[in-house]
Amino acid sequence: MSRSAHPAGPRHADVLTEGHYSAPAADLNVLDEKVWSRTVTRDADGALTVGGIAVARLAEEFGTPAYFLDESDFRARCRAWSEAFGPDADVFYAGKAFLSRAVVRWLKEEGLNLDVCSGGELSTALDAGMPAERIAFHGNNKTVAEIERAVEAGVGRIVLDSFQEIVRVAHIAQRHGVRQRVQIRVTVGVEAHTHEFIATAHEDQKFGIALADGQAAEAVRRALSLDGLDLIGVHSHIGSQIFDMAGFEVSARRVVQLLAEIRDEHGVELPEIDLGGGLGIAYTSEDDPREPHEIAKALSDIVTRECESAKLRTPRISVEPGRAIVGPTAFTLYEVGTIKPLEGLRTYVSVDGGMSDNIRTALYDAEYSVALVSRTSDAEPMLVRVVGKHCESGDIVVKDAFLPADLAPGDLIAVPATGAYCRSMASNYNHALRPPVVAVRDGEARVIVRRETEEDLLRLDVG
Ligand code: LLP
Repeated sequence: MSRSAHPAGPRHADVLTEGHYSAPAADLNVLDEKVWSRTVTRDADGALTVGGIAVARLAEEFGTPAYFLDESDFRARCRAWSEAFGPDADVFYAGKAFLSRAVVRWLKEEGLNLDVCSGGELSTALDAGMPAERIAFHGNNKTVAEIERAVEAGVGRIVLDSFQEIVRVAHIAQRHGVRQRVQIRVTVGVEAHTHEFIATAHEDQKFGIALADGQAAEAVRRALSLDGLDLIGVHSHIGSQIFDMAGFEVSARRVVQLLAEIRDEHGVELPEIDLGGGLGIAYTSEDDPREPHEIAKALSDIVTRECESAKLRTPRISVEPGRAIVGPTAFTLYEVGTIKPLEGLRTYVSVDGGMSDNIRTALYDAEYSVALVSRTSDAEPMLVRVVGKHCESGDIVVKDAFLPADLAPGDLIAVPATGAYCRSMASNYNHALRPPVVAVRDGEARVIVRRETEEDLLRLDVG
């Protein structure tokens, strides 16, 4: 959800007058570079190109719907994050946003670490050659089998999320004759300004151990007392798609205060803190995300200042951006099918995908942009709702947008900023076949996750 996406009202509130939408100010043929990946442009014929390849060719070769991921943009964003935080900090890409073996290889080559939160993500990471010590293992309900696997593989850290897990990981580590490096995830009590389902640092939710009532201090006591654990630091993740830095600053301050209390009680200065992910991206022209260097500066300034005043050595900082790295690097390409004008309301434009390839609009009231990309058009703008082909009316991809009035079946339209939490949350609802992810770079396109087939569906259905 972009900032404006909140249940508060429609994005086009500014153009909504007494129930009527007026035409958008911007030329529909102009692609706002804020929401499109970096190599996207229109060619001389007006067709959108990415990595130098026109969408018509991509559609012909790979079909629709499909996600096209701009590899050089992905790599550039990885570098921007790691350069912004510098050698004294670690950037862990949050694999839940989108993970595949190719992505793991890119991360490895660009020097990033990886946050995984399930056995499936861990196996993808290890299979593609991510060194185990560069992996952080997360989750509020890791199974014993998952913990065993992580400990055996030698992951760099397990982020402990409950009292039961502290004991469980300690036992498993001892059984394997190792001291497992761990962090404790604390709930700092911040109300992040984002959708309720993706805010995680207020107290009434399932993640972490609360700071406020002394639970986090107790968790630290227990972790320090167990031989199987090497407590390296404290972790806080306050939520996702957040623009306001204030929440991160409060979180950083509270985490440093906890380190000072630990020093006072135990005489130990924990060497690391992790401030999680959650930085917002632009889904529409109205969103203004922060650049990695601004985020890095804001966080490191506050940690340094708080540590100075508490007379603590400054810990090594780590962060876990997922959406901010992969989100802006991909778009979903759809073919327009049925077009249904509803007099006095809007025009419903149906595409060949829907909530099975992008659940975010239905789930979080998320906002997206959309453009006609197989050609340009001088036709008048028409108010549209882009919907999928699934059997429910909540199957909406883009709730309110404008497309040219001469839009016709067979046109290609694209929804930008779908790199994060779209393919990774895709489903087979109505036995939809999950779309492929195609990486595009320097005039070459290659499938990194192939399209599902009906045989794939039938293979799982063992009759
Ligand atoms: N670290 C931890 C511990 C997390 O739980 C998450 C996201 C991240 C890092 C990465 O957050 P990011 O930088 O991507 O915001 N499905 C939702 C987002 C759920 C985020 C879950 N945790 C969506 O589509 O908006």
